[in-house]
Amino acid sequence: MNSIQNRRVLSGMRPTGALHLGNYHGALRNWVDLQYQYDCFFFVADWHALTTGYEDTGSLESNVWEVVKDWLAAGLNPGACSIFIQSHVPEHAELHLLLSMITPLGWLERVPSYKDQIEQLSDKDLGTYGFLGYPLLQSADILLYRAQYVPVGEDQVAHVEMTREIARRFNHLFGRESDLEQKVQRALKQLGSRTAGQYEALRKKYQEKGDAGSLDKARLMVEGDARLSLADRERLLSHLEGTGRTILVEPQVLLTPTPKLPGLDGRKMSKSYGNTIAMREEPDEVARKLKAMPTDPARVRRTDPGDPDKCPVFDLHRLYTPEDTRARLTEGCKTAGIGCIECKKPLIDAVVSEITAFRDRAREFEDSPDLIRNVVREGCEKARDAARRTMAEVTEAVGMDYL
Ligand code: TRP
Ligand code: SF4
Repeated sequence: MNSIQNRRVLSGMRPTGALHLGNYHGALRNWVDLQYQYDCFFFVADWHALTTGYEDTGSLESNVWEVVKDWLAAGLNPGACSIFIQSHVPEHAELHLLLSMITPLGWLERVPSYKDQIEQLSDKDLGTYGFLGYPLLQSADILLYRAQYVPVGEDQVAHVEMTREIARRFNHLFGRESDLEQKVQRALKQLGSRTAGQYEALRKKYQEKGDAGSLDKARLMVEGDARLSLADRERLLSHLEGTGRTILVEPQVLLTPTPKLPGLDGRKMSKSYGNTIAMREEPDEVARKLKAMPTDPARVRRTDPGDPDKCPVFDLHRLYTPEDTRARLTEGCKTAGIGCIECKKPLIDAVVSEITAFRDRAREFEDSPDLIRNVVREGCEKARDAARRTMAEVTEAVGMDYL
């Protein structure tokens, strides 16, 4: 196993019900690739769904199962990644509570999605404690697994940024050993007075003058010194930076390359616009929807030439159609050599064939619902193992491991 495979990836989705092609191409397709490269944890964020949808929880359960079914339909392989449900790993709530104690209110109020969402979802009362805490719950999700990478879209970057700040604050507050200073002095003795002197000089230059070059030099010195034990090396590194021990790992965003996937009306494909094609849509329905999709408004009659750059159908071609065919269609459109019905035909075929693969994979799970439950049960267990390990260290660091 190489080191990449040891690295951990975590991501989640809210249970919005059956997923659509925008969800697939915007996130899921990427997860399917990642599962073979990293130690991946993927979960349904059902508590997050409650932050905006607390009034009606009637369809929550079926929405959760539909999402999991679509993950499996897309090709997530339970043998290669862990699939679980947030609320069934209660450590998410435990860590969220602890982190809430050290999170300044201003950090939460400052997250851009907070005010945006309150405005956009003005029909709902989002003046709740839970909604303000949305990004912090997400931080707990991520930090609980010590995930190095979080694959998300542009809209979630601010949440991962805040997670990094929370990790830093936690490590700063609780990563300190009461006798760190003494232990640092003892570790320095191992280095000999010359090296120890250099270390101290570089540390001062960094901490007092902010000289990043000195930090790098001192880091190299400490990391490359075989005389130090692992624990002493950690101590000297945190003493150097003036931070605590790393209990919670700062995650990085793995930005999902999102192709432009228009919905049936040309706007972004989104459930709230009602312009979606579901991942497991009936093939006849797919054909009907695509046939009705608007094209370049300049092509009123069959004899009017068009411009693929002004046509939402062609944005779909960019995703589904090989380049040589696309060149032929472009030519045909611009010269009015082909009509829109003809142009849509290879697209319909490509989308139907993609959807058919999803439907085929999902069938196995539709036939035996126990199968899907077992996948999630096993995923929850693997997730809880990892979560418990982190919580044990967190509890100890905070000083609450009484028994
Ligand atoms: N907030 C994310 C979204 O709306 C879902 C989510 C919850 C998530 N917890 C997470 C994503 C942790 C990545 C990591 O899409
Ligand atoms: Fe769009 Fe194709 Fe019609 Fe041109 S021919 S307007 S690209 S659907």
